[in-house]
Amino acid sequence: MNVTFLLNGESVELRDVPATATLLDWLRDTRGLTGTKEGCNEGDCGACTVMVQDEDGARALNACILFLPQLSGKSVRTVEGIAGPEGQLHPVQQAMIDHHGSQCGFCTPGFITSMATAHLNGEEDHATALAGNLCRCTGYAPILRAAEAASSEPVPEWLSDFILAEIPAGGVGGSQPPTGATVQPETAGELARWYAANPDATLIAGATDVGLWVTKQMRDLGPVAFLNRCRELQGIDETEDSVTIGAGVTVARLIPLMDRLHPSLGAMLRRYGSAQVRAAATIGGNIANGSPIGDGPPALIALGATLHLRKGDDRRDIPLENFFIDYGKQDRQPGEFVEAVSFAKSPDRLKCYKLSKRFDQDISAVCGCFHIAVEDGTVTAARIAFGGMAGIPKRAAHVEAALIGQPWSEDTIKAAQGAWAQDFTPLSDMRASAEYRLEAARNMLTRYFMEDRGLETSVKEVRA
Ligand SMILES: Cc1cc2nc3c(=O)[nH]c(=O)nc-3n(C[C@H](O)[C@H](O)[C@H](O)COP(=O)(O)OP(=O)(O)OC[C@H]3O[C@@H](n4cnc5c(N)ncnc54)[C@H](O)[C@@H]3O)c2cc1C
Ligand code: FES
Ligand code: FES
Repeated sequence: MNVTFLLNGESVELRDVPATATLLDWLRDTRGLTGTKEGCNEGDCGACTVMVQDEDGARALNACILFLPQLSGKSVRTVEGIAGPEGQLHPVQQAMIDHHGSQCGFCTPGFITSMATAHLNGEEDHATALAGNLCRCTGYAPILRAAEAASSEPVPEWLSDFILAEIPAGGVGGSQPPTGATVQPETAGELARWYAANPDATLIAGATDVGLWVTKQMRDLGPVAFLNRCRELQGIDETEDSVTIGAGVTVARLIPLMDRLHPSLGAMLRRYGSAQVRAAATIGGNIANGSPIGDGPPALIALGATLHLRKGDDRRDIPLENFFIDYGKQDRQPGEFVEAVSFAKSPDRLKCYKLSKRFDQDISAVCGCFHIAVEDGTVTAARIAFGGMAGIPKRAAHVEAALIGQPWSEDTIKAAQGAWAQDFTPLSDMRASAEYRLEAARNMLTRYFMEDRGLETSVKEVRA
């Protein structure tokens, strides 16, 4: 496949690119741009961070799990392109020198690109912006001081004047007709037709899962369709009564929506991976991968979400919870894909609790999402869904039944205690023991009740 993009301001046109060639390998091995480092090669450490810009703005992404075709029509800046053309330092680079923020040199280029991206976007929460850049020598304090110091400096003109129009229109992968083994459809219809005819193909959205199949499992993916140029899948359609989120909407784009509708979910999504992961990962991928520990599905199930599936011209809608049949098994036919997920608007009663060993950039050990309606002191409806408690994201049906119709009281919460073991028999693994998980789930309901009553809890959701 042919791919055209801007690299540090210069147009690059690549012919016959293998679908799963990563930007990181290409930068280092082909272009000799070795400032971008390889640390983990799985999206965890941020040593490979690059800045990617398009009409939606600038974001930091991990080059190690970014396939070249995902860059079609975009502008990429590596650490070599952060300084000015005459070698002038970017304010974040100068601040790193002034505050002794640069330590081993291996992580520093990734920090610089993340910092320059956050600086460009005017972000003020430096700890959140840098949570995806790991520094093992504990140099965080000077790095954060440097980010803070640079934030009052203006964006240098060599970064603010990026022009996508410089990319030749005919060169982007998406302008090629969707035929062959690697396609990049522009519309959902094109995708639907091609996938129905190629049901064994792999769909690639943000590649935060699929990337690891290639870099860690060395899998040959066979035919692939990249979804990133399919704008139809990237819409958020909000009416007075409902919200429909396209499968290609990234977690980063969901945050402002949820901050407004369901702030507890917005807060939880800020702890989803890192800035680099949130900017790539899509809600469609988070659902379709069927992971029992994904953070999106429990929250959406608690909101009563509907999943919109499509195969060719046939569409069907199912309750999201019915999509997850068993571990590794979803209700998705060959050639069928997730088009969108929607939910009805309701008064905000949603609370999402994510337990993980680290505050940021960590997969949940337990993720509990509660949406409980109370009228005149009585529970009238309850939707409680968990990740990390079973082989699939799962509702706590017995606990819900024990609550509905009962007074919203401590006694009711206590009476529901026994129902938890009917709903879940969690596993012990490296993240948590079965006993811990069950106990944590029970405690989350108590926490929900106490927070709802405005009672003090000892829970502190903070970065250690
Ligand atoms: C460092 C790191 C941290 C992470 N942290 C978290 C976390 O905190 N919480 C969490 O929940 N997850 C986390 N993840 C997992 C991952 O980000 C999510 O599962 C993500 O949402 C997947 O979305 P994607 O767009 O990247 O999917 P991809 O990797 O592109 O695809 C994932 C799967 O979904 C399929 N797919 C994608 N889109 C569609 C579609 N529209 N229709 C049908 N199938 C489709 C693909 O074929 C593939 O099987 C993390 C991953 C990494 C690498
Ligand atoms: S090399 Fe660690 S995130 Fe890419
Ligand atoms: S800067 Fe590399 S380990 Fe701290």
